[in-house]
Amino acid sequence: MVSIHTMRQRVDDVVSRETGNENGAPAPYRVRTAADLAETAAPSDDLTTPLARAVETSLLARDGARRMAIPRPDATRVMVVANQKGGVGKTTSTVNLAAALAQLGQHVLVIDLDPQGNASTALDIAHHRGTPSTYDLLVEGAPLADVAQPSPEIEGLHVVPATIDLAGAEIELVSVVARENRLTKALNASPLIGDASAGDGRYDYVIVDCPPSLGLLTLNALVAAKEVLIPIQAEYYALEGLGQLIETVEMVRQHLNPNLNISTILVTMYDGRTRLAAGVAEEVREHFGPQVLKTMIPRSVRVSEAPSYAQTVMTYDPGSPGALAYLGAAREIGQRSVKA
Ligand SMILES: Nc1ncnc2c1ncn2[C@@H]1O[C@H](COP(=O)(O)OP(=O)(O)OP(=O)(O)O)[C@@H](O)[C@H]1O
Ligand SMILES: [Mg+2]
Repeated sequence: MVSIHTMRQRVDDVVSRETGNENGAPAPYRVRTAADLAETAAPSDDLTTPLARAVETSLLARDGARRMAIPRPDATRVMVVANQKGGVGKTTSTVNLAAALAQLGQHVLVIDLDPQGNASTALDIAHHRGTPSTYDLLVEGAPLADVAQPSPEIEGLHVVPATIDLAGAEIELVSVVARENRLTKALNASPLIGDASAGDGRYDYVIVDCPPSLGLLTLNALVAAKEVLIPIQAEYYALEGLGQLIETVEMVRQHLNPNLNISTILVTMYDGRTRLAAGVAEEVREHFGPQVLKTMIPRSVRVSEAPSYAQTVMTYDPGSPGALAYLGAAREIGQRSVKA
């Protein structure tokens, strides 16, 4: 496993290598292109090749979600989906991975930690003012069982919605004792989170959707989780700003939560037709190594239109490439063992 220090160094290296030229003049950030990649032979299990991806897709489609149910982890895995950059696919990945994991037989809880409430909308969970929500969990100390709602569509999936009240929580929490530990406290108090002793009804995955900032809400998530999942959009400037996120994770690890670990990187909105996307994906793989999931999420209209039907793409169009990719990513996540 690549350490956070190594990742940080690698990100620094690529940014400095590609933002200056021989004369010391700044040059635009440059990613490797498909032409650069052609110089190195692709490994046989590389799902970035069209053929390999087509085979994977047809296998996934033929097997169907249920038949591929994956084993439950030994204890609840708390994963925080974070990237302070806006619009990189945090919410889309949270809701679709959660739905996919539930379809693979897991018990999943989504915690919407973004006052925008996009994850709640996509999962068709009421989140008007007054609905028991993440705000009550964090600020009022409400028990998890009082704020989690079952998904109307997907068995095995529960959601703690975010209402607009959460927008004030960032400020209200400043004066609260142990303000960065509120989510940890709430999760620790839940009888449904833990190892086998928590019983069969326990959650296997808690997935936290963060807002696009590194404020107190995101900090609460980083303190409560063991794993960070970073979605990276396959676009120009993909790695920019990641240094700051990695530094924050390292700071939390040193001072607040020694168990935290960047376990998963997911490349999103991948457009296989462009050299740029292939270049970015390769760059991400080069700098983060084994944390990067083999499955990349393609840019797809079905993925982006599903929330307007209050659905995930997993139910809206289960056979579409976006749904199959999220299913593949969920399967990979499930297969990865986590250090206790
Ligand atoms: N694979 C995809 N294909 C096409 N569109 C996508 C895909 N993934 C995400 N999008 C679209 O990109 C936009 C941003 O995605 P999303 O809301 O998931 O990002 P985010 O990181 O949660 O944003 P924010 O930082 O505002 O919370 C949305 O309109 C979403 O529908
Ligand atoms: Mg979001």
